[in-house]
Amino acid sequence: MNINPEIKEKIVLALDVNTIDEAKQLVTELKDYTGVFKVGLQFILANGSEVFKFIRDEGGKFFFDIKLHDIPNTVKKASENIIKQGASFFNLHAAGGAEMMKQAAEGANNAAKALGLDPPVILAVTLLTSISEDVLNNELQIPSNTKDYTLTLAKLAKASGMSGVVASAHECAGIKSACGKDFKVLCPGIRPAWSVTGDQKRIAAPAFAISQGADYLVIGRAVTGCKDKIGAMQKIYEEIEGVL
Ligand code: C5P
Repeated sequence: MNINPEIKEKIVLALDVNTIDEAKQLVTELKDYTGVFKVGLQFILANGSEVFKFIRDEGGKFFFDIKLHDIPNTVKKASENIIKQGASFFNLHAAGGAEMMKQAAEGANNAAKALGLDPPVILAVTLLTSISEDVLNNELQIPSNTKDYTLTLAKLAKASGMSGVVASAHECAGIKSACGKDFKVLCPGIRPAWSVTGDQKRIAAPAFAISQGADYLVIGRAVTGCKDKIGAMQKIYEEIEGVL
């Protein structure tokens, strides 16, 4: 199949595996179809950062899913070091506040400039999809509904120099209309009709997410859980092609 570069740029493959060998195998097999490989803390703490170098050596980009949330100075220094590790994307919690996000952007953008790299894509997590409205109101004592709260944090993230947010496809259109089409939205929970839902709740099909304006789709088990991973990826490409 001809790989559409516009679609490839949108595909963020989640390397949610246990071993470095499994991660390397996924990178090798799917690099032609993947714009960015997402590596999380669970994997890094078990296997170290060797996979970063492997992805770069294979010509890929990686997203360090680290979800920073600390005082502004610590986040600034951490952001500099994330760029020095070669990450093109990383994330942080918008709940850390405007000053923390501004410092992260300053640290990361200056580090990228000093290394002659493109500015990174920095995404703010608004509200974890594991937090229900009941937890928001009664545990966290935040008297808002999840939709309004998510939008408030997305606007704060935009005003603080973030490239975009992580959100479900169902919130994407609202965020785009409030924050503008250039403010990026990365959508996890992507499930084509033929794949199993697993533990995800707020799922969406790839074509739906794209139709809502999603810039990036996190593809995990929908592909990595299949025996024929390339075949599954190609079906996702075909589905997206139909709505581009
Ligand atoms: O396999 P699956 O498609 O469910 O993988 C989704 C990936 O996106 C996982 O790495 C998960 O941690 C991540 N993620 C998510 N929901 C969020 C943020 C990140 O599913 N709100």
